[in-house]
Amino acid sequence: MFTVGILTISDKGSRGERQDKSGEAIREILSSMDARIVNYDVVPDEKELIVEKLVKWVDEDDLDVLITTGGTGLTPRDVTPEATLAVVDRIVPGFAEAMRAESLKKTPMAMLSRAVAGTRGKCLIINLPGSPKAVRECLEVILPALPHAVETLKGQAGECGIAET
Ligand code: MTE
Repeated sequence: MFTVGILTISDKGSRGERQDKSGEAIREILSSMDARIVNYDVVPDEKELIVEKLVKWVDEDDLDVLITTGGTGLTPRDVTPEATLAVVDRIVPGFAEAMRAESLKKTPMAMLSRAVAGTRGKCLIINLPGSPKAVRECLEVILPALPHAVETLKGQAGECGIAET
């Protein structure tokens, strides 16, 4: 079992002008896994607010995985990758590489997401793009690696390669 925080980053969502279908999609997809969602919020596309939330959830609430959705694109308001890079100790490029590689098979627009992933302490932080469709397509790609990522981060994994499917 691992604990998860879902942070939706959306100006409209934070003002209550848009239903958070992307956060709901993450919740729904994770329900098929041994994951417990312990944090959820919607914040506007403001770097300092995003940083504050990421740090608080990871450092105080002892999360295993923190998934963000939104704010990864090219509009002037999109700052989620910058906020994430400001708080991680190590970048884990494989998650974003895999998401973009698989997403490009579905849409060339996948190139526009600047999503990143990294670790802060024992928590894995992963950016997803903002649309519910993109959330589903990207989560599908990374889910198989999540449990082992959490195990290795926590130092609980046995020998790598033996448990892999
Ligand atoms: N990735 C997948 N798998 N499917 C998508 O539909 N949309 C793209 C891209 N990544 C998309 C995707 C689009 S249109 C944009 S603008 C970027 O993600 C950034 O989205 P964001 O700013 O909402 O995070």
